Amino acid sequence: MRITYYGHSCFGVETKGKHLVFDPFITPNELAKDIAINSIKADYLLISHGHGDHVADGVAIGKNTGAKAVSNFEIISWFEQKGVPGHPMNHGGKVQFDFGVVKYVNAVHSSVLPDGTYGGNPGGFVVWNDEVCFYFAGDTALTMDMKLIPATCPKLDFAILPIGDNFTMGYEDAAIACDYIDCDKVIGCHYDTFGYIKIDHSAAKKAFVDKGKELILLPIGESLDL
Ligand code: NI
Ligand code: MN
Repeated sequence: MRITYYGHSCFGVETKGKHLVFDPFITPNELAKDIAINSIKADYLLISHGHGDHVADGVAIGKNTGAKAVSNFEIISWFEQKGVPGHPMNHGGKVQFDFGVVKYVNAVHSSVLPDGTYGGNPGGFVVWNDEVCFYFAGDTALTMDMKLIPATCPKLDFAILPIGDNFTMGYEDAAIACDYIDCDKVIGCHYDTFGYIKIDHSAAKKAFVDKGKELILLPIGESLDL
């Protein structure tokens, strides 16, 4: 599978011939100004919660590509009202798609859509098939609920965790989350985009190395084959 970073918490994942896009927030992100949203392929849009920095380009990409949105019931109702079809889920539920299984898992955060519509409770996703299993945490604090992931899902190959602090856990707590989710390889997200979440990259990587973990900070626009 191939993962591409589009800045903030937005990633493209190509697996089993399908393109998944997580938390599309590109055009408002000055750091991602070189990413053209019209060039992004998507069969599915996975939306962790309703905040603008996770849904901003969702409707545009959905309409460009014909992608189906996957999120909680409230967010999918909002996408469908805007003409993007979706698959509604809620916490603890999993569903088999043509690329693999998606489980919607707990996040400790808040959620409202940009126009004030109630966004339900925020979540994250565990995605697996016969080539990969990974966790996309969305925006969350460190929470004991993360221990449910290794208890209920296949062994993770990697996790995408927020590390920017202030609105989510910081890198120190994300390094602890590695133990809770039983996964030593992390791709960081939700850092540097705004003043509140600017971080020292070498200090973040050191916090992981000191615990025997790996933190990958992908440059925006770059891909990794995993
Ligand atoms: Ni948020
Ligand atoms: Mn956010």
